Formats: sequence, C-alpha cells, structure tokens
Amino acid sequence: MSRRKQIYEGKAKILYEGPEPGTLVQYFKDDATAFNAQKKATLDGKGALNNRISEYMMMRLGEIGIPTHFIKRLNMREQLIKKAEIIPLEVICRNVAAGTMSKRLGIDEGEKLPRSIVEFCLKRDDLGDPLIAEEHIHAFGWASQAELDEMIGMTLRINDFMQGLFSGVGIRLVDFKIEFGRVPLAEGHQIILADEISPDSCRLWDRDTDKKLDKDRFRRDLGEVTEAYQEVAMRLGILKPNPSNPPTLSVVSSDD
Ligand code: CDP
Repeated sequence: MSRRKQIYEGKAKILYEGPEPGTLVQYFKDDATAFNAQKKATLDGKGALNNRISEYMMMRLGEIGIPTHFIKRLNMREQLIKKAEIIPLEVICRNVAAGTMSKRLGIDEGEKLPRSIVEFCLKRDDLGDPLIAEEHIHAFGWASQAELDEMIGMTLRINDFMQGLFSGVGIRLVDFKIEFGRVPLAEGHQIILADEISPDSCRLWDRDTDKKLDKDRFRRDLGEVTEAYQEVAMRLGILKPNPSNPPTLSVVSSDD
C-alpha cells in the first residue's frame, strides 16, 4: 500500500502527490470504463501498457517542441508529471468519421473527413461530456482566446505528428482526445499537454484490415483488448514480443 497522499482518482488513473513541489505521480489502473462508466471491467495489463505508450507519445511530442506534463516514468504503472491546472475541456481531433461524429452527423464510420476537424467537449462526467462550441468556451470563461488558439494549434501539430508516426507502423489515426493544463511561469502561465495519449483515448485502425486496435474493442465487446494495445506498443517498438507471457483479459463486471 502506498502511503503517498492521493490527490484525485479518475476512471483509469490515480494522481498522488509528487516528491517535489509542482509534481504529481500518475498511476495507470487496469480499470476500463465506457458509456459514461455504465460499462466497467478490469483488463489485466492495460495500465502498464498505457503507461508505456503514453510515455512514448509524450516524449516524442516533447522532441518536436510540444510542452507536456511528462517528466519521467517511475515504474511499470507510474510516471512523474508536472502538476497542472486542468482546463475543463476535452479536445478531440478527427481525421476519419467514427463514434459520436458518425452518429451525430450520419456519416458512415470509416469515411475520410474533408480535413482534420477539432471539436471541444466539456469535461463533465455528470453531463456525459457534452459537445460545446467555441462560443461557450468564451462566454463561460473556460479558456481565453489566446489559450484556445494555442490549444488548437498544438492539437493540429500533434495530429500531424501522430498521423505520420502511426502511418509508419501501418496504423490509421482515426481520432483522438487530449487535455491541456496550465502551469505557472515567473510571469503568467504556460499551456501544456496533460493527461495521457493511449489506445484508451485514440481510435487506431490497422491500415490494411481496419482492425480496431483501441478502446472500441472494449466498448463494442470485440474481445482481445489488451492484446490490441500490446500490438500497438510492439509496432511502435516500445515492447518486444514475449510469447511466453501473453496478457490475460479478465472482465470482472460488464453491465452493458
Ligand atoms: O468514444 P465515443 O464514441 O464515446 O466518442 P467520440 O466523440 O467519437 O470520441 C472521439 C475520440 O475521443 C475517440 O478516440 C475516443 O476514444 C476519445 N474520447 C476519450 O478518450 N474520452 C472521452 N471522454 C471521449 C472521447
């Protein structure tokens, strides 16, 4: 049992107080939830895989000049991050129609969008993270115009970079969700990429077969969820194949 002070527990992660002021420890759980937590399961090994995949993505994005909360990985399930004031928005970037966009606009899943589209949802689980317009963000003061411009600019750069990275390993980046936070500077503050980037927060399809390698395997009961996450990690070169120790999947409860 950890004696560190727990700051926050979310659906898939726990945040603990970090060793230095201005730091936190982000712990990746094996828990999976979908449909606003109506469907729940424990997927053995998911937390460790997401820890590694998110570390890799944040490090690569850091190399191209995207400021992120990632400092270093501490162990299998934990990483040291910068403490940030999370902006209460989910920023979604889409290249191919899927999920709620397909439902909302009646566009077939898999249809390539005319261009990449950035959407905003309000981070409010109790409301089911509703889609909002930039007008709402301005009117309710959730972010300033300058912050919004910066978030949109960073999101499009992240999208360009990740599309290329995944395309190099035969994966289509259909869409993804990111979150940003504010960290104080001597004067003002800086906007940094926070939370995680993993198959929990991206749609990743095999380029040739359209096989889903992301959380839709869990949402849609397609099975082999951690195996798919492991395949993403292996294709990115993060994990070496280890046939003697295949991941196991144990669904403890599924009520959907
Ligand atoms: O995933 P769902 O169909 O509910 O919603 P979406 O708006 O189609 O999701 C777009 C992308 O954002 C997908 O890659 C989701 O996995 C991700 N997302 C997320 O990570 N967390 C949310 N609360 C909502 C979406």
